[in-house]
Amino acid sequence: MSKQAIIAPSVLAADFANLQRDIEMINTSQADWFHIDIMDGVFVPNISFGMPVLEAINKHAKKTIDVHLMIVDPDRYIKTFKALGSDILTVHYEACTHLHRTLQAIKAEGMKAGVALNPHTNVSLLEDVINDIDLVCLMSVNPGFGGQSFIENTYKKIRQLKEIITRNGASTLIEIDGGVTDKNAKQLTEAGADVLVAGSFVFRAEDPIATIADLKKITTL
Ligand code: DX5
Ligand code: ZN
Repeated sequence: MSKQAIIAPSVLAADFANLQRDIEMINTSQADWFHIDIMDGVFVPNISFGMPVLEAINKHAKKTIDVHLMIVDPDRYIKTFKALGSDILTVHYEACTHLHRTLQAIKAEGMKAGVALNPHTNVSLLEDVINDIDLVCLMSVNPGFGGQSFIENTYKKIRQLKEIITRNGASTLIEIDGGVTDKNAKQLTEAGADVLVAGSFVFRAEDPIATIADLKKITTL
């Protein structure tokens, strides 16, 4: 069975002074999703952008909007992110005391529910909720900043997570976020990744459209 990774450029690395241009570039490209990083300066040591910017992005974006919340107490904003156009809403395991309840609340709004794990968080912690999760986002850098280098231990986590998904008969997608380039994209897909987020590798490229096409090609197995 042939497989091709879903490519999700991270808008965090776009040129915010030319946001419409960059969104339209992604629309035109072979990218599948928009990855949107929301940081609150508390859960992570950085603040990205908030609701008005997502509203502006949503006006132009013609593909799936994949929102990655790096915020404490994300339950407060589930309805807000639905109203702003999120198709997938991902919360951090480390930020949710009642993860099962949060996942149900996201799905009740008609969104796909994702859970992100920091590099130090073991995938086995998701064993009891895996059938309730549409997407697991494995952080392959410490969340907070774009442009960091990929943590090699991620491959092992992908394989362990894949085993949990298969054993439970779940259909959860595995997303890799941080430090993705043309050097690791194929190996990540072979290990079991379904979605690759790429920020600086795409937006700092001389030709982002060709770079996205290349990522699609090298992740076709
Ligand atoms: C990091 C964010 C990532 C980031 C990826 O906290 O969650 O989505 O934008 O950027 P790159 O691809 O540059 O590592
Ligand atoms: Zn992200």
